[in-house]
Amino acid sequence: MDEKLFSIIDSLEQNRRLSFEELTWLVSHRSVEGAMLLAKKAAAVRDSIYGRDVFVRGLIEFSNICKNDCLYCGIRKSQTACQRYRLTEPQIMLCCQQGYALGFRTFVLQSGEDGWFTDERLCQIVSHIKTEYPDCAITLSVGERSRESYQKLFDAGADRYLLRHETATKSHYEKIHPKEMSFDHRMQCIQDLRDIGYDVGIGMMVGAPYQTPEDLARDLLFIEDFRPEMCGIGPFIPAAGTPFAHFPAGTLEETLYLLSIIRLLVPDVLLPATTALGTIDPLGREKGMQAGANVVMPNLSPVQVRKKYMLYDNKICTGEESAQCRNCLDLRMDKIGYTIVSDRGDIRREKSHV
Ligand code: 5AD
Ligand code: FES
Repeated sequence: MDEKLFSIIDSLEQNRRLSFEELTWLVSHRSVEGAMLLAKKAAAVRDSIYGRDVFVRGLIEFSNICKNDCLYCGIRKSQTACQRYRLTEPQIMLCCQQGYALGFRTFVLQSGEDGWFTDERLCQIVSHIKTEYPDCAITLSVGERSRESYQKLFDAGADRYLLRHETATKSHYEKIHPKEMSFDHRMQCIQDLRDIGYDVGIGMMVGAPYQTPEDLARDLLFIEDFRPEMCGIGPFIPAAGTPFAHFPAGTLEETLYLLSIIRLLVPDVLLPATTALGTIDPLGREKGMQAGANVVMPNLSPVQVRKKYMLYDNKICTGEESAQCRNCLDLRMDKIGYTIVSDRGDIRREKSHV
């Protein structure tokens, strides 16, 4: 095998750091052998911290109304084919009740950037969930808001926040977003979330339109520097009716490869095998685990709205009840020797590394 590949993987394993040049080389020289070696090392590092326990997060997609117009997204403002919905507080509480009974101890509240959910309304929902389920973690994934808003939501009881950076390259960001959206603002939001004290999740799509190996290397460098608590990556999947409907999807192989690299860069990161990964390959989530992931995020949204939260085409789990998804994932994980645990699933900080 390639000398250079060996020495880069070695240095990644030893130092948990690579330079921009090394990351670019690794991304642009993906091979089956390299991917296998990285997956083996990534799974071993994951095993040393989390074992074969898989954390679950119950995802509640509570509104698909969005003021943004991201060019890749199936629920973007301009998407006329999308039937909009908003769950009521009692509906959200019912999702949590079902989720709790199914063993979920983290709820992820995700929505488009829906102005109806003012700080007051969202704080009310967060504190209601926290009061009823004090042993659960609440993760928000509701987009860009002001620092004051993030602070209020944190004070109301939110523990974690997912805000994918989407791409760490400003010029690339501008190619996949409308001009009203700002790369600097998104990065500011991510920093504000960290400063306030949230566990923060960032991430990007793999194979997004116009993405280059250098762009991915900058994403990895950003992950390496920021050391997020969570990192969500999945393949780009075209969504009908969007400007990127005819771009090719990202691949399973490249996504798995990047999952392994991320695990080695940030050994204790909470790394989901995403729904998008399960969408491009029937065993995508299982393969994600084997490449170093340790989290799955099944859907807890009411079945009648699931088909309306179509970020991309052919999204899986849109016809299943929450209990079916939970059972299905239990079986899938069990088959490959992993076990879904009923746990908040907090990050297990590595003691040796700061
Ligand atoms: N393909 C894959 N992922 C997508 N997302 C949005 N649209 C798509 C798509 N077409 C991702 C974005 C966003 C997250 C909620 O879903 O990265 O941050
Ligand atoms: Fe939803 Fe398999 S995880 S049906």
